[in-house]
Amino acid sequence: MAETTPASNGTVNVIKGDSAVAHAKGSPGTYSAPSRVTLHLEHLPSKNIKAPWPRTPSRVDPNNPPWPAYRGYHEYSFAHATMGVRLPTILGKAIDDTSRTLNEQSNEDKIVDLVQCLERMDLLMADLSGNAKLRPIIDDGEGDVALWNKEIAKYFQGKDFMNAPWLFAEAYKYRRLHECFSVSRYWKDYDVFYRQKCDTFARSADAVFELSMRFAEPFKQSENISEKEKAETERLMFLELTQVCLWGNSTDLSLLINMTEDQIKSLQSTGGEHLAATEKNILGNHMNQLWETVKVLPEKTGGRIDFVLDNAGFELYCDFVYADFLIQSGLAKQIRFHGKRYPWFVSDVTRNDWSWLLNTMVYGHLFPKASEAERESLRRLGARWKQYENDGRWTYEQHPFWCTGYTFWDLHSEAPDLFLHLSHSDLVFFKGDLNHRKLTYDCAAPASIPFDVAIGPMASAAGAPKVCSLRTIKSDVVVGLGDDGDAIAEKLDQEEPGWKISGKYAVVLLSEGRPGEKVRFA
Ligand code: F6P
Ligand code: MG
Repeated sequence: MAETTPASNGTVNVIKGDSAVAHAKGSPGTYSAPSRVTLHLEHLPSKNIKAPWPRTPSRVDPNNPPWPAYRGYHEYSFAHATMGVRLPTILGKAIDDTSRTLNEQSNEDKIVDLVQCLERMDLLMADLSGNAKLRPIIDDGEGDVALWNKEIAKYFQGKDFMNAPWLFAEAYKYRRLHECFSVSRYWKDYDVFYRQKCDTFARSADAVFELSMRFAEPFKQSENISEKEKAETERLMFLELTQVCLWGNSTDLSLLINMTEDQIKSLQSTGGEHLAATEKNILGNHMNQLWETVKVLPEKTGGRIDFVLDNAGFELYCDFVYADFLIQSGLAKQIRFHGKRYPWFVSDVTRNDWSWLLNTMVYGHLFPKASEAERESLRRLGARWKQYENDGRWTYEQHPFWCTGYTFWDLHSEAPDLFLHLSHSDLVFFKGDLNHRKLTYDCAAPASIPFDVAIGPMASAAGAPKVCSLRTIKSDVVVGLGDDGDAIAEKLDQEEPGWKISGKYAVVLLSEGRPGEKVRFA
């Protein structure tokens, strides 16, 4: 797994591996320790970008975002490091995982079928390492094939992994990885990242129990306090749990798989003091506006809140803690969670990850060192959350659009059914870095650009719901930092190179939505 580590000289060290290429050439075995190269993050300055930027809306398309696109051929960029190093390394680990599964099989038909999956993965590795042109996706019956091939045919004919926009090329790699299995007979739903996802939750014991011991007992206001005090308690709890949900995003596997247990612990500290300190790292902070939006939901519409999920395991657990509070407090009546149909960007939530988390909390033996009280608190939480699912207060959904290369600027046009569905929501949270990249077209927009402008039709199209991005910053695009945003970004570029990929900083950004024009169905 590639790592990025801030260095002291204004650059960031990227760990670079060449064993992936060796595998593509047919060498078996696991992936060895990579060597270091130096990464400059300021390759595409987003300040002082003069006309023709931003492109006028009619000139914007997937190959031409409003501001300059990040592309893999920008040497020394995070896009380049990801396309050239991180993705082959992630694929190499996926091959190792599949080989491990192969070695555990006894049925010949299944073995032969899985060997063919491995051969397809080797071809993908050769394409990735050899910077092949992007070919259409094979029709494997998935609901997204037409969307993928339309986008490739319209915008990316003749493009390769390095000269297509980074966002599209990276998503395409995960779609091709899925195809290695989806065309098989027995392994259609195999998840090469499943072991890693489960393992990281198992290694998050401290933070898991810190939260379960505190929240197993349902949220209830004390009887003896005034209405004003009750409102204040609710507000403070909301703000605290918004941060728990936000920082749950900092431990994503595609970047942090080599972390020690202590490093995971420090990223996952959830205590009040810790959160007060981390609030200063929220560079664009609309938490107060968010509270103003949420607090009136009960009397307005009854409160439907949607979560476009990001990562499984600990992050999903934090999302659940937050969603539980929203239900317990009466701020929301219904929560809809949107996950992925198949393994995506390593750690993203699938239906399987969703069920695994709830069931392992109730029945699992994951934490042998925990006390009985701790285990009981986890069981209680898990049982309550399963009950929400059973009575329809929580639902899991997985629209095919979430696993395409389209950004959310195209959500209303390429997935109108989904857009309409979201337009019925009072508030849609988008979790994590990739969702933020997709909201903002993943381009070099100035940091001072308001969030409403950066997300285009997701804020301006008729019926657009209120959108809140809860994102720890783990890649180049940064918007919504206010009028001084460009200066703030410039200062950080100079003083803390690597600030855009470290996960130390975050944004909580809220759009206005177009509620006046919302189409509401009974
Ligand atoms: O490979 C880079 C990336 O796509 C970035 O968006 C981010 O660093 C990571 O992968 C995914 O992060 P998240 O799980 O928060 O979307
Ligand atoms: Mg993710």
